[in-house]
Amino acid sequence: MADKDTSKLWGGRFNEPTDAFVQRFTASVDFDRRMYAQDIEGSQAHARMLHKCGILNQGELDQILQGLEEIRTEIEAGDFNWSVELEDVHMNIEARLTEKIGVCGKKLHTGRSRNDQVATDIRLYLRGQIDVICEQLSRLQSGLVELATKEADTIMPGFTHLQTAQPVSFGHHLLAWNEMLERDYGRMQDCRQRLNQSPLGAAALAGTTYPIDRHYTAELLGFDKPTENSLDSVSDRDFAIEFCAAASLIMTHLSRFSEELVLWASAQFNFVRLPDRFCTGSSIMPQKKNPDVPELVRGKTGRVTGHLVSLLMLMKSQPLAYNKDNQEDKEPLFDVIDTVRDSLVAYADMVPAISPNRTAMYEAARRGFSTATDLADYLVGKGLAFRDAHEVVGKAVAFGVEQQRDLAELSLEELRAYSNAIGEDVFDVLKLEGSVAARNHIGGTAPDQVREAADRARSRLQQRSGNS
Ligand code: ARG
Repeated sequence: MADKDTSKLWGGRFNEPTDAFVQRFTASVDFDRRMYAQDIEGSQAHARMLHKCGILNQGELDQILQGLEEIRTEIEAGDFNWSVELEDVHMNIEARLTEKIGVCGKKLHTGRSRNDQVATDIRLYLRGQIDVICEQLSRLQSGLVELATKEADTIMPGFTHLQTAQPVSFGHHLLAWNEMLERDYGRMQDCRQRLNQSPLGAAALAGTTYPIDRHYTAELLGFDKPTENSLDSVSDRDFAIEFCAAASLIMTHLSRFSEELVLWASAQFNFVRLPDRFCTGSSIMPQKKNPDVPELVRGKTGRVTGHLVSLLMLMKSQPLAYNKDNQEDKEPLFDVIDTVRDSLVAYADMVPAISPNRTAMYEAARRGFSTATDLADYLVGKGLAFRDAHEVVGKAVAFGVEQQRDLAELSLEELRAYSNAIGEDVFDVLKLEGSVAARNHIGGTAPDQVREAADRARSRLQQRSGNS
């Protein structure tokens, strides 16, 4: 037959070549080629297993391993000719192997399908990227913990409803961010653990008739064990969804830090100075220094959560087993990986360079009646019921607002007009330092507690690097 399509690895049963548009429409090589190293590693493990099981002889194995190594070198040197006609990374590499070593290259695909091959490649690729992301998380966390230690005695207003609530240590605020990231790290490790099983050997969907050893390939690739069910193995993308969910939460956390940094870097707050190298100027307003990095990270959060939703919708209602739909998992997944990794790199670089304006923070805490709760607690100590104390302090605050003076700036006489339980010792609790130091329990904002919390966080981080 004259126009029979022989250029395709699957061309045998076809009577005409693929439509040129369909070829481009169905190809994934432009984006899945980033998994070339994992594809080669998976193929080498598969070939070793075929040899161990007597399906390939030693000479064939050697040629395959050697050919694949040469292909890796060609790709890394930029000498590899990626072809859309060959559809994806798997067939590009396999076709090149056959071109190099002849018929022996055609034996590599024995007992395997692109369906278990691609599932293996994605798991390997994602596993490596989770490790990179976890490294960046640890680096950012270390930066926060060191800054928190340095700033344990720095007092700032703590907010609820973005209204001044009670004074807190700036170090305490930084350690709150650290706690979010600590949970993020745990979620990434969870995801890594669940994905670390080998789908190789599931073949197209039902397994294979060859006497393969799935435990062996799992072990060679550093997986904990082979997956249980061949149908599930080729169709499951839960691990990608779990990863994107964990990544979305990381971005949500970074967006919260970003929002605070953007506010704090403004002239109105003036709590922190971001280093010039993380900011940009305006082409029209010469005075501007814009916090672009936090703003961009805040903006990228939507994109990552969007990809999570894409993947959930991609998998919704898909019948078993593999469907071509699954090829659509890669672009969202890769973009999430790149975005969350780059955002973490930016933050890990920036955080140690944040310089707090301690005076502005202190003044803001002093201006906002932030020790009103301390006065109420003081009155409870003198025998008043909390609700009555609350009422008394409320009236004193109203007077202070009218006078434009904070509670600590009122005289003893003025304060005693609201309750004669108030004595000279009241000024100890109205001072910001006294207020902060009094919250002296685990999880509280007393500077000593902040230092201890930072020490605990630091040893958790050290344990982490000891484990890896
Ligand atoms: N490029 C494909 C993907 O990413 C590889 C698997 C193709 N399998 C198939 N039966 N067409 O999903």
